[in-house]
Amino acid sequence: MGAQRVTERFAELYGAPPQGVWAAPGRVNLIGEHTDYNDGFVMPFALPHRTLAAVSRRDDGLLRLHSADVGGEVVELRLDALAPGTDHGWTAYPAGVVWALIEAGHEITGADVHLSSTVPTGAGLSSSAALEVVVALALNDLYDLGLERWRLARLCQRAENVYVGAPTGIMDQTASACCEEGHALFLDTRDLSQRQIPFDLAAEGLRLLVVDTQVEHAHSGGEYGKRRAGCEKGAALLGVDALRDIPHAGLDAALARLGDEEEVVRLVRHVVTEDHRVERVVGLLRAGETRAIGPVLTEGHASLRDDFRVSCRELDLVVDTALAHGALGARMTGGGFGGSAIVLAEATDVDALTKAIEEAFTAAGLTTPRVFEATPSPGAHPLS
Ligand code: GLA
Repeated sequence: MGAQRVTERFAELYGAPPQGVWAAPGRVNLIGEHTDYNDGFVMPFALPHRTLAAVSRRDDGLLRLHSADVGGEVVELRLDALAPGTDHGWTAYPAGVVWALIEAGHEITGADVHLSSTVPTGAGLSSSAALEVVVALALNDLYDLGLERWRLARLCQRAENVYVGAPTGIMDQTASACCEEGHALFLDTRDLSQRQIPFDLAAEGLRLLVVDTQVEHAHSGGEYGKRRAGCEKGAALLGVDALRDIPHAGLDAALARLGDEEEVVRLVRHVVTEDHRVERVVGLLRAGETRAIGPVLTEGHASLRDDFRVSCRELDLVVDTALAHGALGARMTGGGFGGSAIVLAEATDVDALTKAIEEAFTAAGLTTPRVFEATPSPGAHPLS
């Protein structure tokens, strides 16, 4: 759905055209999984799939929300009644952003919002972050708040952590707010310092496929929190602020100090080696050795599967099938327990690989996954 369609629909719903239309993308993470809440490194890029928001200001303390994807009536909320934990539906994301802005001292007096998204939901591709960031950017512009992108991302994370109640890191919101077309974002989640790394696979005859398994295992929410708590325990036992502070060269010594804390050992090993993998990928890309990142991605999958234990049968099937059919590398992406995997492949192998993955799912009696090619796309921006 384009800017024109959301503008028209907004006018139908609210009786006048919107003051503007904004877009914010979903993301896929190339490498650096479950590192963001350990103050570590990540490397996402923006997808062409995005959420559009047509928005106008109001001055009567009301927030009115409508989503083309959910349908139904306009939802009307009072700004002075917004409170964490009171909303368990989709409206908690945009409402949470407004709450976070107000709580940070910004004078927001209301808004009419109409949303429409092409970011697949429940696929580990950050549809929630796209929804948060598009609303934050729209209000930043309409209320002339002058907030920088990284600050908007922080407010969106606060909306998700506190208002919605999901203990996620900062990667998804920063990716949606800060990514640039043709680049992957090398982000240090400790201080949010960023480097845009050119990532033009097509020019090298390569492709990155996203394979959305279309499964989401029910325990994903609780398990994410448990991993996070386990990492915090590891940092406390090792006497550091965050696992990011354990250098790769000091990993063996750190693990030895953890003794028989077997689960913590596995979590720490994943996080420390994963941070190192991000640095290796950045180094390889800067050296122009793009094909050589494949095995590093695959190593990352093994670590997420065996040490961090957030993969699942469907994600492993994508990775194993892709590698058996000539992929350069493959791994799950995002939080895990379902969602999507990525596959790095020669452009000439894409059709055969896609077919092999589809056939493997059919043979295993599983729903056919959705496969699409990901090209690094622009971060959030105004459309009109
Ligand atoms: C989810 C969270 C992110 C990050 C990833 C795992 O996408 O929202 O903050 O922790 O999982 O890397």
